[in-house]
Amino acid sequence: MKKVGILTGGGDCPGLNATIRGVVRKCIVDYDYKMYGILEGWRGLIDGKVKELDLWSVSGILPKGGTIIGTSRTNPFGKDNSGDPEKILDNIKKLGLDAIVSIGGEDTQGVAYQLFKMGVNVVSIPKTIDNDLMGTDYTFGFDTAVNVATEAIDRLHTTAESHNRVMVVEVMGRHAGWIAMFSGIAGGADVILIPEKPVDIDDVCDILKKRHERGKRFSIVVVSEGIKINFENKEEEDFILKDAKTDAFGHVTLGGVGPLLAKMIEKRTGFESRCTVLGHILRGGAPTAFDRILSTRFGIAASELIHKGEFGKMVALQGNKIVALDLKDVSKNIKTVDDYWYNIAKVFFG
Ligand code: F6P
Repeated sequence: MKKVGILTGGGDCPGLNATIRGVVRKCIVDYDYKMYGILEGWRGLIDGKVKELDLWSVSGILPKGGTIIGTSRTNPFGKDNSGDPEKILDNIKKLGLDAIVSIGGEDTQGVAYQLFKMGVNVVSIPKTIDNDLMGTDYTFGFDTAVNVATEAIDRLHTTAESHNRVMVVEVMGRHAGWIAMFSGIAGGADVILIPEKPVDIDDVCDILKKRHERGKRFSIVVVSEGIKINFENKEEEDFILKDAKTDAFGHVTLGGVGPLLAKMIEKRTGFESRCTVLGHILRGGAPTAFDRILSTRFGIAASELIHKGEFGKMVALQGNKIVALDLKDVSKNIKTVDDYWYNIAKVFFG
């Protein structure tokens, strides 16, 4: 009987439990494998912390947000040496794991590829609300985040209109503007600001002024946390980055550009402005039906790859097909928003 470990790495997102359920059900029901949850991402393999996952342990988790096996941003190949990949190899041997299913974003895929090169039988599954993974049209978690943000924008529309205000909505997404772009289009935003398209604050204010000139007395500005704007002075820039810590993968903690942007808009246009930062609300709660189905398909496809002995692969969605890609090709760059999307959004600016 084969033993398979499954882990969730990086930031959580809706659909992780649905994926775990898919893998565990397929591997137990169809292949009679013994399944283990590796606790808190790669940290669990470094410390050798696992728990057995039987059919009961994955029952009822399909609609649940978060991850029943925990997650962390542990980097076994981090510069601080806290990870020591050799410990991972030792523990895989001690636990008798024949294969690992790693569910994660760009960083988790990178670690999975490193371990694969060291001889570990890995199959990966792409997740992240940011939708910034190469090779897959969508990652699960993204659709839920977009729906939550869209609902928030709809709600902000009515209060913005009542008070004649500019409402700035800050969403996550790191260095890719997918959440801002999709929720902005779906929510009818008047301006969408994304990292891929640096803008001048004066140009943003001009769009809003023109809109108000033609009789609209409120506006919705959707801003992605990773945007680059020209700051009015150095203190403002420092304000955003002052507490910025980096994680084990060297990513700076983002968030906070929205409130500053609202102040800058108010100062330059005279329009009363407010900001709502959606932050981790986008990562919590139940996955949408789309994400539940995608997670389930990914879980089944990853299990099939393990059964066929095809390792070093990441499952991905291309069109409506689930495909298997080489990990070495997906962990190189992130997928960012292209002009096709920007040109659609732009039609509705102002
Ligand atoms: O990658 C997912 C994400 O939610 C990003 O959009 C965001 O910048 C980051 O994680 C936040 O990370 P943390 O939960 O560690 O603050």
